[in-house]
Amino acid sequence: MGKILVTGGAGYIGSHTAVELLDAGKEIVIIDNFSNSKPDVLENIKKITNKDFKFYEIDYSDREKLEKVFEENEIESVLNFAGYKAVGESVKKPIEYYTNNISGCLVLLDTMRKYGCKKFIFSSSATVYGDPEIVPLTEECKIGGVTNPYGATKLFIEQILCDLYDSDNTWDICILRYFNPVGAHESGLIGEEPQGIPNNLMPYIVRVASGQLEKLSVFGDDYDTHDGTGVRDYIHVVDLAKGHVKALEKLDKEKEGIFIYNLGTGVGYSVLDMVKAFEIATEKEVPYVITERREGDIATCYSDASKAKRELGWIAEKSLEDMCKDSWRYIERQLK
Ligand code: WQD
Repeated sequence: MGKILVTGGAGYIGSHTAVELLDAGKEIVIIDNFSNSKPDVLENIKKITNKDFKFYEIDYSDREKLEKVFEENEIESVLNFAGYKAVGESVKKPIEYYTNNISGCLVLLDTMRKYGCKKFIFSSSATVYGDPEIVPLTEECKIGGVTNPYGATKLFIEQILCDLYDSDNTWDICILRYFNPVGAHESGLIGEEPQGIPNNLMPYIVRVASGQLEKLSVFGDDYDTHDGTGVRDYIHVVDLAKGHVKALEKLDKEKEGIFIYNLGTGVGYSVLDMVKAFEIATEKEVPYVITERREGDIATCYSDASKAKRELGWIAEKSLEDMCKDSWRYIERQLK
């Protein structure tokens, strides 16, 4: 059996997926340049799983070094988590985002082709749906209308993958559209480590609860939702990671093809639902104020996750309480 290459395997979603792959008995090779992660994550993956893996500290767009990884290991499939992911930063640094996310991915795909490795799983995002015309979002819903370079990189790579498959249908490609990943591994050993002040809701809530930030700004309470605040489909990162294992198993047993799946719970929660759920789950207070809407935000976004259930046999199992407790446990450990 060949090995699975995990690019960006020290990052938030990459590390949780590495754990699930190792737990499922797969052999993996991780590459990461630690641009948004730390080396201890690798030790913690080993601690959680009690398994070992090969690691290369390289940039996935460094063709020469990447080729060496393919030379030294029999790579059968690739999971790509090596993308930049901060929406706000992408507006300020479009060249860096397009270069790392798109050029990097092209180097990776070209190298895969050179070594005859044609199984690829790509981390896409619900952001490719832009402002949804209807919810829940199915995989057939219109894509486009992204409002920032980060979203554009996801949309363009999806197009690149479709074109690649059209040109050579011996590729086996799976595009996974993540909704809003939150939470952390229940061990508290790996989790999300945003640099500076977080932009996403859950990391912000956690830092208010810990006293590192004073209060949460709730961006608008006049949306057309049950309490006026924005509604999203929050999904536990461990469920998300398990979705990758299922996707890989599908690519392993199916004939070649290109497949697209939403990975979400199918349930939407508002910002205030999240605040309340967090307070109940952790018995911590989360002071907040209502402020102006954030530019570029949409009212409601949640998935129809039935295709993944039908075709992958995957369903999100963890509750909102788990998401809150696990997010908190990780930060509590960091503070000790
Ligand atoms: C969720 C809700 C905010 C912070 C973004 C990207 C997406 C994906 C995940 C990243 C919204 C509200 C937030 C705060 C708030 N990609 N909010 N106060 O915007 O759905 O998605 O992150 O890798 O591509 O677009 O997630 O967590 O930023 O916001 O009121 O301090 O919380 O308005 O309704 P979003 P989010």
